[in-house]
Amino acid sequence: MHRGFLSRVERQRPWVTLKAAATLDGKTALLNGKSQWITGPAARRDVQKLRARSCAILTGSGTVLVDNPQLTVRTGDTSLQPLRVVLDSRLVTPPERRIFDGGNTLLATSVADPARHEVYRQRGAQILILPALGGHADLELLLHSLAERGVNELMVEAGAGLNGALVQAGLVDEIILYLAPALVGNAAQGLFAWPALEDLADKQAVTIRDVRMVGADVRLTMGLA
Ligand SMILES: NC(=O)c1ccc[n+]([C@@H]2O[C@H](COP(=O)([O-])OP(=O)(O)OC[C@H]3O[C@@H](n4cnc5c(N)ncnc54)[C@H](OP(=O)(O)O)[C@@H]3O)[C@@H](O)[C@H]2O)c1
Repeated sequence: MHRGFLSRVERQRPWVTLKAAATLDGKTALLNGKSQWITGPAARRDVQKLRARSCAILTGSGTVLVDNPQLTVRTGDTSLQPLRVVLDSRLVTPPERRIFDGGNTLLATSVADPARHEVYRQRGAQILILPALGGHADLELLLHSLAERGVNELMVEAGAGLNGALVQAGLVDEIILYLAPALVGNAAQGLFAWPALEDLADKQAVTIRDVRMVGADVRLTMGLA
């Protein structure tokens, strides 16, 4: 119950849960970007509960561009909507996207020019400026800034780009993976965009903590070793 609070106090970053929906062959979207819907209605209701217990939901610019998600809780599981956080280091996200509807959105970017923030501010977004690190925003600093804003539990709902970067940076505590009983083939997009590994010794180990059926889908809860 207190893992988020403890993480924020002891590590100065939130407890990070990465949620993803994939086919049994580990694919999260088709090559053309389509990913709605991989899992069934029961799994999607389950995700609403995960959102409701999160202080904030983090997504990437790729997901906002392709899926145009709202990332709100729509089931009445909470009266308090989690803060929506969009990571977009170069400001490529159009301000008309649904993620900016109704405010309560934090746009994390490495673009420091206030003139370029204005269209997002007019949509009610707050702006967080992060230094760039290797061409992208500094993820560790993003998590520190969220902790400073009182975020105890952060849920990541992003594509392979942000998922891969966060796991590689050692910033994910738990993965909740919904696996749908379907196959889409190798050409589709995977779960984690990483540079090719040279050796299996470099693989990321996980510990499976829970396995259960949610409707026709399997939900795996994993800790990162
Ligand atoms: N099945 C699912 O669970 C699920 C969930 C969400 C999305 N999707 C699918 O995923 C696809 C989009 O995936 P995507 O990978 O293009 O988008 P994404 O993960 O939403 O966006 C890429 C993000 O990762 C950041 N990034 C990449 N490498 C980084 C690094 N080394 N350090 C810091 N930040 C880094 C990018 O930052 P910059 O701003 O610097 O570029 C950008 O914000 C869509 O087709 C969508 O439908 C599937």
